[in-house]
Amino acid sequence: MFEIKAKDNRGRVGVLKTNSGTIKTPNLMPVIHPRKQAIDVKKYGADIVITNAYLIYKDEELKQEAIDKGLHELINFDGPIMTDSGSFQLSVYGDVDITNKEVIEFQELIKTDIGTSLDIPTAPFVDREKAEEDLEITLERAKEAIDFRNKENMEMKLNSVVQGSTFMDLRRFCARELTKLDADLYPIGAVVPLMESYHYKELVDVVMNSVANLPDSKPRHLMGAGHPMVFALAVAMGCDLFDSAAYILYAEDDRLLSTRGTYKLENLQEMPCSCEVCSNYTPDDLRAMPKEERRDLIASHNLHVSFAELRLIRQAIYEGSLMELVEERCRAHPKLLDAYRQLGKYMEDMEKYDPRSKKSAFFYTGPESLSRSEVKRHMQKLREMPKKRDLVILPSSRKPYSKYISGKLGEFYGYGAQREIDLENTDFMVLDIPFGLIPLDIDEVYPLSQNDAPRIKDVDSLEFIEDFISEFVEYYEQTLIHSKIIKELDIGLYTPHIQSDEIRYKKDDLKKVKAIADYQFGNGAGKALFTGNINIEKSKKTGKIRHIYDGKVIIANMRASDSYLVLSKEGAKRLHSKMPYPQNRVVVNEDSVPFALEGKSVFSKFIVSADENIRANDEVLIVSEEDELLAYGKALLSAHEMNDFNTGQAIKTRKGMKK
Ligand code: GUN
Ligand code: ZN
Repeated sequence: MFEIKAKDNRGRVGVLKTNSGTIKTPNLMPVIHPRKQAIDVKKYGADIVITNAYLIYKDEELKQEAIDKGLHELINFDGPIMTDSGSFQLSVYGDVDITNKEVIEFQELIKTDIGTSLDIPTAPFVDREKAEEDLEITLERAKEAIDFRNKENMEMKLNSVVQGSTFMDLRRFCARELTKLDADLYPIGAVVPLMESYHYKELVDVVMNSVANLPDSKPRHLMGAGHPMVFALAVAMGCDLFDSAAYILYAEDDRLLSTRGTYKLENLQEMPCSCEVCSNYTPDDLRAMPKEERRDLIASHNLHVSFAELRLIRQAIYEGSLMELVEERCRAHPKLLDAYRQLGKYMEDMEKYDPRSKKSAFFYTGPESLSRSEVKRHMQKLREMPKKRDLVILPSSRKPYSKYISGKLGEFYGYGAQREIDLENTDFMVLDIPFGLIPLDIDEVYPLSQNDAPRIKDVDSLEFIEDFISEFVEYYEQTLIHSKIIKELDIGLYTPHIQSDEIRYKKDDLKKVKAIADYQFGNGAGKALFTGNINIEKSKKTGKIRHIYDGKVIIANMRASDSYLVLSKEGAKRLHSKMPYPQNRVVVNEDSVPFALEGKSVFSKFIVSADENIRANDEVLIVSEEDELLAYGKALLSAHEMNDFNTGQAIKTRKGMKK
């Protein structure tokens, strides 16, 4: 029913199948009013819409028409339709004239594609007692909805809405309880008041605590989110669907949506975008118009801007630049910047979903970039890396650093015990923003060279690298820091001064491929892969390592774009025999063993377990439940997702061991 096609952080491009057609996600569902809809939303790119089953139910005439002809004819939309249950009316008026059972059965009767139970949207910042009481009812109704659903005809998909107000433990509890129900989609509810009052920071807490406890294999809908300002941030947190009444509500109020905020028509000297409305009318034209005509034009602009933003977001996921887009968007308002800073606290969770290699380079757009999952991941890898006795820290240069560092390295300041440096027992690292220390042997691996940061460093960056150095000198007996760094950081603590012609970085290709293997597959992988009569073939054009052989047998290729190793059959065998289970493995069930051996791609439903360190784009080993090597290939999902999904492809197999 739902599959992931591309990923970036927690954001995903997916396809969602419903009874009335398939849609791409992330996507926006314009709210359709069953009686007074004036705008043809399909014209502006709507693939799916949302309307209100309760409003139809309450209106005798609409109700009868919906029963007779079905919902799709009633609102004249033949694509997928989601319906809400009256919960929003419940939160506004305190009461509704429908029971949970009635609304479920009615939604089935009128053939909605995705129906919703009668959850209670508990407002933010209520007292705990109220939140708990409401939540109990919400959970009970979600369970009932699953029971009430017609078991013979399961054509209607079911929403189970996460509530719990601003109590994070209640949000987590609710998400876990709803996960057990195995609903089809998981909306996150009662966030409208947070967004209306610019409590974006709390929105991040609510969404992250919900999403981290929901199944990865089901779409999530940020209910009532219709302002394009928040789409990119919400998608990065794992939201797949939005709904918008904002396009028409704002238009009725003469307000124009934009990713930079909201414009009041009365203040506009210029039209804010390049849509048809903004190109053909001036603010004065609009102001002079009859109210209804103006409203429809503004609504059309609002929809245009919203769909354009979603296209941009999906494109950013494909190319791996979603966080750069989020960082840009979150500078539109200080409260959004707060929200993004708050998201930094959840990067350990985000990292579990973030592909290890991406098409686009990592851009540092400000101090918040230092909290990104790529930075966290590299720091963790560095801490786990086996270390030599001494450390030499060099200033940054052109990238890849190792290509431009040679000969006499200059003056150094010593830290720790002072004695002769033993080059064989020394790690060489470059100091730079945003990855802190970059070992020269692995500097070509994504994203350590595929990144850019401003030359003029901000205070946060300086503090970040100072902390990084302070931590790392503790891991070594002796550290030599280049004088240029000492000057830049303005720290006088490193003495004495050493001028040494002996300190040279010696390029060593074997050391390099081993270090890359360790970084990529775990410590020990370099030795496992590259022992024997190793010879390394380089590209004549670029000088980059391309193929690594033992004698005449190929072990691995090095991919030019990100310098990761792509295993050969022999490489896969070596890695499998020397690296302990479960490292780098995806375990498939008995039924799929013959298919894997033949080199057929692996689908999620055959996966029994996966090494939790696996991320999308990793090279992985495919094994049986007895750890027999069956095949090897490239992961399309992270370990968590592989374990949760039951549809779609999980690994693009390179080769089966049979062939
Ligand atoms: N629309 C906006 N917020 C909510 C919510 O919390 N629940 C439901 N059912 N609909 C909503
Ligand atoms: Zn416009």
